[in-house]
Amino acid sequence: MKKIAPSILSADFTNLAAELAAIEEAKADYVHVDVMDGHFVPNLTIGPLVVEAIRRATSLPLDVHLMIENPQNFISAFAKAGSDIITVHIETTENLEEVVASIKEFGIRAGLALNPDTPVKKIEPYIKLADLVLVMSVHPGFSGQEFIKSTFQKIRRVSRLVDRLNPEAELEVDGGIKVGNIKQVSDAGADVFVSGSGIFGTDDYKKTIEAMRKELGEKEIGEEF
Ligand code: DX5
Ligand code: ZN
Repeated sequence: MKKIAPSILSADFTNLAAELAAIEEAKADYVHVDVMDGHFVPNLTIGPLVVEAIRRATSLPLDVHLMIENPQNFISAFAKAGSDIITVHIETTENLEEVVASIKEFGIRAGLALNPDTPVKKIEPYIKLADLVLVMSVHPGFSGQEFIKSTFQKIRRVSRLVDRLNPEAELEVDGGIKVGNIKQVSDAGADVFVSGSGIFGTDDYKKTIEAMRKELGEKEIGEEF
């Protein structure tokens, strides 16, 4: 089953509990949480305190995307805040093995992300370590950007590597995904689709997620009956 992960960065932060309830009701698979530090990316977003609050407001798995330098300093805080998956960028540390091991020590899943400008060969040696591989389809920092088309080829290449080296790992794609292009991203090999403005920018999240699943060729169980 393919998974849809709404990015909370595009939600209404004055109403986070209601937004989380709405995507849970809309049968999202994960809540994608974008953590930015103003160094690795030119924006600042949320820290462990907010992740902990999100944890209390939803039973969906929390897919926490760390766009921060020195991620090793924050694994414990984000794990204790209730993350189910913690993804770090391969560009941010030389000690990927240690960082992945420290995530797994908390009994949670470890993801590795690569930026649009990072060559696929940089992630190849680490794919076997990861429970999830995240291919960025925009330059990280902001929601609402346009999907970078050259990512399709990259997804196909990473998908082949995952199939060969670590078929249990999920391949997630993040940035600029909407109802209109989700099928193409899926055909390239993605398993998990992050969508911020593509969901929270619409009036009816449930309808939007249903439309995405229809594009993916997945019907709701019992739909025919
Ligand atoms: C970008 C973030 C994305 C972003 C997705 O830096 O990692 O998760 O919020 O938002 P959309 O779907 O609007 O591109
Ligand atoms: Zn993200």
